[in-house]
Order: sequence, then C-alpha cells, then structure tokens
Amino acid sequence: MRLQGKTAIITGSARGIGLEFARAYIAEGARVALADINADAARAAAAELGKHAIAVQMDVTSQDSIDRGFAEAIEKLGHLDILINNAALFTAAPITEVTRADYDRVFAVNASGTFFCMQAAARHMIARGQGGRIINMASQAGRRGEALVSVYCATKAAVISMTQSAGLNLIAHGITVNAIAPGVVDGEHWDGVDAFFARYEGRPLGEKKRIVGESVPFGRMGRASDLTGMAIFLATPEAGYIVAQCLGVDGGNWMA
Ligand SMILES: NC(=O)c1ccc[n+]([C@@H]2O[C@H](COP(=O)([O-])OP(=O)(O)OC[C@H]3O[C@@H](n4cnc5c(N)ncnc54)[C@H](O)[C@@H]3O)[C@@H](O)[C@H]2O)c1
Repeated sequence: MRLQGKTAIITGSARGIGLEFARAYIAEGARVALADINADAARAAAAELGKHAIAVQMDVTSQDSIDRGFAEAIEKLGHLDILINNAALFTAAPITEVTRADYDRVFAVNASGTFFCMQAAARHMIARGQGGRIINMASQAGRRGEALVSVYCATKAAVISMTQSAGLNLIAHGITVNAIAPGVVDGEHWDGVDAFFARYEGRPLGEKKRIVGESVPFGRMGRASDLTGMAIFLATPEAGYIVAQCLGVDGGNWMA
C-alpha cells in the first residue's frame, strides 16, 4: 500500500498502459480519476476497478475540457497528489505524405495536451502547498527520429523537453516532474502501429510487431504491467530526489 491516501488523475486511462497504471495505483491504496476522451470506455473501466476509481470525460486538446475535467476530478477526489500524462495518439507516414491536419492533431494530444494538463495539475498543487508528482509518458521514440514516424517522435521529444523544464520550474514547490520512456508495448496501440508499417513497408499484418519484439534485448515486447513498477516508484517518497528525468523502461532497447 505504497500510495495509501494518495489521489491521481491518469489521462488516457480507459485502456492500455493508462488503465494498467490505474489498476496498479488502486492496488497500492490510491484513488484514481480515469480521464479519457472516450467517456463510455472510461466509465466501464472505472466500474471494473471498483469504488476507488472514478471516470471523467476529458479531451486533453481542449482547454475548456481540461479545466472542467480537473475541477470535477479534484472535487470528487478531494485533492490531487499525482498526475500521469498518458493520453497520446500515434501516426506514421513518409515526410512527403504527412498532412497538416494529422500533424496538428497528434501534436495537440501528445505535446499540448501534456503541457496544459501539467499546468492544471501544477496550479492546484502549488495552491494546496503540499507538493505533488507529475509523470509524463514519453517514449523511446522521443530519443531519436524514425524514418516513418517523424511527427510522433517529435511530440515525444517535446514531452522529454517539457519534463525537463517543468521539473526545474516546479521543484521549488515540492513538485517532481519526470517522464517514463517505454520501448514497444503490446496492446491496441501497437496493433495500430503495426498496421501503419504494414501499409508503408508492404508487410503482412503482425510482421513488424514480431520483428520489433524479437529485437528487444530482453527477448520480447513489453507489457503494460512491466511499466507499473516505475509509475508507482516515481510517486513514492523514495523517488523524491529524482527531478526532470526521462527513465527508460524498455527491456534494454535504449541506453540513456
Ligand atoms: N504502446 C507502446 O508501445 C508505447 C511505447 C512508448 C510510449 N507509449 C506511450 O504510453 C502511453 C500509453 O500508450 P498506450 O499503448 O496505452 O496507448 P493507447 O492508444 O492504448 O491508449 C491511449 C488512450 O488515450 C486516449 N486518448 C486519445 N486521445 C485523447 C484525448 N484527446 N484526450 C484524452 N484521452 C485521449 C484514448 O482514448 C486511449 O484510451 C502513450 O503516451 C504512448 O505514447 C506507448
């Protein structure tokens, strides 16, 4: 029960890694708001997780939705100790085929959404005066570019950069800001990634996923449950001196 009495908002937690984080946080004693654009899925997930989970509809690309979602979650939870900025979209295309609409959409969720949710959490945490924890979901994709993944990689590089700046800015208030960089994690997200590579590299569905899984030094793709230990640790007192870092949890894919 390492998070007993703590409260958290996790964006994009109706499925995938965010949902696994919510499950793990509740198992450690936290109460969690599942904030997702997909309200029905968030409600279903919260119902499955039980009385320590609430669902909040939030579109992280809309300031109005962030303001309303944070207000609702904080009212129901009583206060906010931890934000996990997890909502994100993936896209892939050769540079010559990237559309401005797709670029704007993915930056709006992954970069602007992360930034303005951080801001909303920080304003509450500073006013409350008891510090807090912000954990941003980056990616190994933010460490280096990829030929077909220019836009997503750039958004995750932005997440790493804003984690550094916010970490330095907010530590004076006892708020630590850090990022987790997963490698390749099996689930619906990667099914979508695989479909992009099938299209642009002319591969059968599933082939890219098999190849990237085999190339992880650990010997397999990640699972959402591989990431929960870091997400819990970063919210504990033991991690209090970790500031502005991007920590890889990727089976050895990247050495920072
Ligand atoms: N799966 C991987 O291989 C992998 C690797 C590296 C990093 N990551 C990162 O980990 C995080 C979670 O990934 P995942 O695999 O669980 O993704 P996912 O696609 O399974 O889940 C993303 C969630 O975000 C929600 N969402 C999308 N747009 C939103 C918006 N505008 N407002 C609020 N919610 C929105 C979706 O409804 C969904 O529930 C993401 O930040 C992702 O970039 C994933």
